[in-house]
Amino acid sequence: MRTVYVNGDYVSEEDAKVSVFDRGFLFADGVYEVTSVLDGKLVDFPGHCARLRRSLGELAMGFPMSDEDLLAIHRRLVVENQIQEGLIYLQVTRGVAERDFLFPPEETPRTVVLFTQAKPLIESASAARGQKVATVEDLRWSRCDIKTVQLLYPSMAKMEAQSRGADDAWLVREGEVTEGSSNNAYIVLEDGTIVTRDLSNVILSGITRRAVLKCARTLQMKVMERAFSVEEALMAVEAFTTSASGFVMPVVEIDGQKIGDGMPGPTAKHLREVYIAEMRKAAI
Ligand code: PDD
Repeated sequence: MRTVYVNGDYVSEEDAKVSVFDRGFLFADGVYEVTSVLDGKLVDFPGHCARLRRSLGELAMGFPMSDEDLLAIHRRLVVENQIQEGLIYLQVTRGVAERDFLFPPEETPRTVVLFTQAKPLIESASAARGQKVATVEDLRWSRCDIKTVQLLYPSMAKMEAQSRGADDAWLVREGEVTEGSSNNAYIVLEDGTIVTRDLSNVILSGITRRAVLKCARTLQMKVMERAFSVEEALMAVEAFTTSASGFVMPVVEIDGQKIGDGMPGPTAKHLREVYIAEMRKAAI
């Protein structure tokens, strides 16, 4: 049985409860972060804290806890649940209040929940085989830069992709790929250039994305941050995604059409190795 953090308490998962009046439950009025754990250490914790604060700020949700407080909770959960490899999920909601479309008073205490998920991340069958994706219209709201818990549409898109025989969805807005259901999307052109959607309100600024693009540039790979169409993706020599849970994940098929030779490509494989090595060195 896992130990879960709920509003200051470390409790057994069966006792981890929040109110039915929680704004996260009633309005999806909350934000989250998923941080990976390698060798019992946190990967890019400062990056996740910085994005959490940005998400909170965009929703005018004051948050009294410091990064040190959050680090201490993450570390205690890693130790108590003996996580060597896996994920830590953190959610902050606006708190418990009478149901009302207006925000409750600012002094309403935030609901803060964290839990762990033990999971092999490095030795991944999906990464060895590569994933199949299906394109699905991006019908999410226009503030995808905020990491809210409003995940119904990504969940529906992934279900739709799976019903079409794929592992995941690539979301498409006006003919151009924005991102995956829970990852950033990339293609590699014939001349080796890596293309990924530029940052804006229509995608989440991935913490893995930033680190992987830094690795790519250090390796002298050419990177272009711009929109790409589904047609361009279908003609790419390689494709991949990045996220805290998948690191660098090769994509071998889009809408039933093989990308390159239908096997994980060299760029994705190389970036995955370099990214994992760099993160293992820097994890805290
Ligand atoms: N998802 N885009 C979306 C829509 C995401 O939900 C995520 C992360 C990413 C990648 O961000 P990062 O590299 O910081 O993980 C991009 C997490 C892993 C999830 O929902 O489980």
